[in-house]
Amino acid sequence: MAVRREYPPRSIEASDVLAGRVEPNYFKTLTRLMAAHALAEKLTAQGYERAAGFITDGATLATVRKNLAEEHKHAHLVYAALAELGLAEARADRSMVTALKAPSFAAPRRFAAQAAEPLDLVMASVSLDMTGLIMIGVNYRESSYAPHARAADIILAEEEDHELFAAGELRDAVEQFGAERVNAALRSWLPSAVNFFGPPGSGFTFDCLSYGLKSRDNAELAELYLSLLQRRVEQAGLEMPELSSEYPHFVMS
Ligand SMILES: [Fe+2]
Ligand SMILES: [Fe+2]
Repeated sequence: MAVRREYPPRSIEASDVLAGRVEPNYFKTLTRLMAAHALAEKLTAQGYERAAGFITDGATLATVRKNLAEEHKHAHLVYAALAELGLAEARADRSMVTALKAPSFAAPRRFAAQAAEPLDLVMASVSLDMTGLIMIGVNYRESSYAPHARAADIILAEEEDHELFAAGELRDAVEQFGAERVNAALRSWLPSAVNFFGPPGSGFTFDCLSYGLKSRDNAELAELYLSLLQRRVEQAGLEMPELSSEYPHFVMS
């Protein structure tokens, strides 16, 4: 999808939006995108909080606590950017009530509400930290909205660490739980991990692309994620599940 980009990266500040120096629909699109980002960070923090309750291994628990603090900070950064535009956290979350039920939020929802064992932590990390790194690194760092791009700089530095954790975990999980169990967990989590990128070619993403709030369509990012994950899955001696081609994705065989 080739979309003409109206605003260059980091060209818009809160004062431009508040003074009406951008198209009226820019505000609506930007706040919806940031509300979704903030909520994803918050649910990830809740998931790490759950994990802190069931992880007993000392080294893993220390990483979980560190990630938990960082995910809280990420959520806070994005909510603060929303507040600068006059949108309080509660109102931003209310605007996400319907989106929260969509397949694109299934992975963070599952981590926040259902994670119960160490293997869930591994899968959540693969589903949320790896995907988050791609979304933030590819899309938000280049955002036309400078405050979101600046938040992305800070978040990225920490997510690179979370992602490394995920990478090592997949190999360790095979040793600890056996390939069969990890393969089954992958089949269960992978569809929602890919769906986290959202539907391809939506009107909302078209607006995001034309305002320079995203630089790639969801489908391109999902593909990038799958190719990175495939390599990692194979390196760990696991099987990459075959997914249906259309959103929402499911496991084929
Ligand atoms: Fe994060
Ligand atoms: Fe993370």
